[in-house]
Amino acid sequence: MIIAQDLTKTYRIAQPAEGRFAAVRSLLHPRYIERRAVDGVSFSIEDGEIVGYIGQNGAGKSTTIKMLSGILVPTGGEVKVNGLTPHKDRKEHLRNIGVVFGQKTSLWWDVPVIDSFRILKEMYRVEESRFQKNLELYTELLDLAPFLNQPVRQLSLGQRVRADLAAALMHDPGILFLDEPTIGVDVVAKERLRNFILEINRERGVTVLLTTHDVVDMEKLVNRVIVIHTGAIIYDGDIRGLRERYGRQRRMVLQFEGDCPALSLPGVKTEKMGEGRMAVLFDQHLFTVDEMLASVRRAGSPIRDILIQDADIEQIVRDIYREGGKAV
Ligand SMILES: Nc1ncnc2c1ncn2[C@@H]1O[C@H](COP(=O)(O)OP(=O)(O)OP(=O)(O)O)[C@@H](O)[C@H]1O
Ligand SMILES: [Mg+2]
Repeated sequence: MIIAQDLTKTYRIAQPAEGRFAAVRSLLHPRYIERRAVDGVSFSIEDGEIVGYIGQNGAGKSTTIKMLSGILVPTGGEVKVNGLTPHKDRKEHLRNIGVVFGQKTSLWWDVPVIDSFRILKEMYRVEESRFQKNLELYTELLDLAPFLNQPVRQLSLGQRVRADLAAALMHDPGILFLDEPTIGVDVVAKERLRNFILEINRERGVTVLLTTHDVVDMEKLVNRVIVIHTGAIIYDGDIRGLRERYGRQRRMVLQFEGDCPALSLPGVKTEKMGEGRMAVLFDQHLFTVDEMLASVRRAGSPIRDILIQDADIEQIVRDIYREGGKAV
């Protein structure tokens, strides 16, 4: 179980001086400002959950993951992972978790992948039989065989992330922290990564907290999303709830027999899409589809074709980021 209570992280950033001899002055009298990257975040994650941690660039996702993994010491608040305080009980904590940063490998650059695995086996004192079993399973599920004997520096990004994922799980941790595991990975490799994560969650009950900018990850992988915005949590719940709360907008694409009519209704937006074709965006809590259609008919030429779309999750996430979590 993972518990964050009022978790806060403030970075101290050196401010460059301005004017004459700025570089020298900065060096002699450095001035700092504080930036609160994570601002009183609270959540708890049960064993066996797969939780997506989402938010714009700079929202505070990686900073949170680093505090949960014990890499960073929180400025305030509390964090407990399986009853341990990550930055204090580091050694014991590391046995319980696996961490992957999509942007950065934790493997040895010049060493063949298989040797990296063996080093980890020794570090974590994994029994040989257990190691062989894991190696076999991960090699199969992540298709590692083609590059097991290559040094990490020779791997493509997708191969490297797969190797990193296998490495993070060599010691059978019950918790996995993934910071953008699918970044820059092609669609086929992404699918393989997702299936792998689902499999180890289902078969071994591994708890997963992952950050991602990929809406397909959110839809296919997670049962719960936590949205962080400028360091604070603005939503915690399932995807359906996210849709209900933020995805009120519907989009109706209309093809007319003649020209598009002019439509002016409160809160309704229109987009011209070409000859006699127009999209109408409206809040389904304010207008029913029927009312919308009636208004359109009153406004002008006969309708030849209609397509009605729900706001897709990508649109919803975009709206949330833009509005900073205010219900739209
Ligand atoms: N080591 C650091 N020193 C100073 N400021 C930092 C440091 N690391 C991150 N920050 C700042 O803290 C804020 C949160 O950064 P963080 O890396 O947690 O964001 P993120 O949600 O992971 O973003 P992204 O989606 O771009 O990965 C940002 O404003 C960032 O500039
Ligand atoms: Mg990040």
